[in-house]
Amino acid sequence: MIDVLLGLQWGDEGKGKMVDYLANKYQVVARFQGGPNAGHTLLFNGKKYVLHTVPSGIFRMGVLNLIGNGVVLDPIILKKELDTLAELDLTFQDRLLVSRKAHLILPTHRLLDTVQEAAKGKQKIGSTLRGIGPTYTDKIGRRGLRVGDIFSPDFKERYDALKWLHIQQASQLPRGVEFNLGEEEAKWLASIEELKQLNFVNGEYFVHECLQKGQRILAEGAQGAMLDIDFGTYPYVTSSNTITASVCNGLGVAPQRIGEVIGITKAYCTRVGSGPFPTELDNELGEKIRQAGGEFGATTGRPRRCGWLDLPQLRYSIMLNGVTQLIMTKLDILNDFAELTVATHYESMGEKTNQVPYDFNLQNISPVWKHYKGWLKNLNNLQNFSEFPQALKNYIRDLENILGVPFSILSIGPGREQLILCEQAKKNKTGN
Ligand code: GDP
Ligand code: IMO
Ligand code: MG
Repeated sequence: MIDVLLGLQWGDEGKGKMVDYLANKYQVVARFQGGPNAGHTLLFNGKKYVLHTVPSGIFRMGVLNLIGNGVVLDPIILKKELDTLAELDLTFQDRLLVSRKAHLILPTHRLLDTVQEAAKGKQKIGSTLRGIGPTYTDKIGRRGLRVGDIFSPDFKERYDALKWLHIQQASQLPRGVEFNLGEEEAKWLASIEELKQLNFVNGEYFVHECLQKGQRILAEGAQGAMLDIDFGTYPYVTSSNTITASVCNGLGVAPQRIGEVIGITKAYCTRVGSGPFPTELDNELGEKIRQAGGEFGATTGRPRRCGWLDLPQLRYSIMLNGVTQLIMTKLDILNDFAELTVATHYESMGEKTNQVPYDFNLQNISPVWKHYKGWLKNLNNLQNFSEFPQALKNYIRDLENILGVPFSILSIGPGREQLILCEQAKKNKTGN
């Protein structure tokens, strides 16, 4: 079976930490979409690691890590990640596999991302400027370069042709963006040579063979459901499908192979970049959450916008993904709040709804709030749900009732072991 772990909000829910924790239960961890716009943070033995392309099972010996065909890969960023891993006392080279069908991010994809964003002015998406949109555009436009192409005798010619197309496209947009193409290209071509040393697979056959042998695969999502190209807050989204369905395209597996779908939410909401955010706290309370939660982007360092938990939004993500179990992270960040708030519904033109609207901006949405008593207690040394303060137990049980899906893990700190297993996870012997 292939289980899926993905973000239910606007990204940064703590996927890296949870994949790292759960990886020991699996033979393979596989990324299926997105690219180095992702920043997945892991913390163990007092050290922090941020992964952008490499799956978060890499620190678990015996676990294979696949970069699937649905991923877009920047060889410069991958090389940096691998150089960092190489400095550690970790053998990972044989455990990292790359699907030949993954698409390559060219330096000029990043250039295009930057000029396109600049041209949008106030309407900018808030892209990470990692070239994600332009790379997926070329994939769908049937002119992209795939990782497997790096061994073709005409690779350089094809690279040059695509580069010139990008330069032409960029020249039609306003200038004023600094980009040293010569330097970036030299780095990129050198990284391509290093990329050649990695293990390539036909990912779809690899995954199929693992499943035939009865092995367990964990598919690691990037971004979150509200950044999905179809179902997110379009156009303020990323350029891939981020939901469970994307596992099938992004790895080459049939839907009936999918087992558990583990959806992650923070105890509140964050969003980095532009776009609608109905429960946003653009005030001191939001700032308090940002500081307490260290809500600054793992990829770009940008301050994340913060707000209360949004239950219509979560229900929507649960529906789209077919979530079978929930993980809530960052509960500890709310330790000092005397009162917690969540949105249970939206109100639009005098009508109450629990559906996510077609366009938040058009429909003048305001949240309908529900308040809970805070627990006002440090959760650090707690080991079991039964030890949780009553206010926190009530909060969790109420959310489960509203969302209709049980929590399997509650995370109470950034460290690998800082979590509480709920009944379902204990039964499944989740994790170590
Ligand atoms: P991802 O992109 O979903 O992997 O999430 P990020 O790594 O971008 O952001 C999540 C941040 O929250 C990271 O800094 C994690 O170390 C941190 N984190 C994860 N779970 C917890 C938690 O339960 N409590 C606290 N305090 N931090 C957490
Ligand atoms: P992880 O995997 C949070 C956001 C960007 C921007 C929009 C489009 O760490 O959760 P893009 O670079 O994809 O063109 O940007 O999507 N975004 C993320 N926000 N976490 C991420 O990844 C994100 N990846 C992209 O900020 O608003
Ligand atoms: Mg992140």
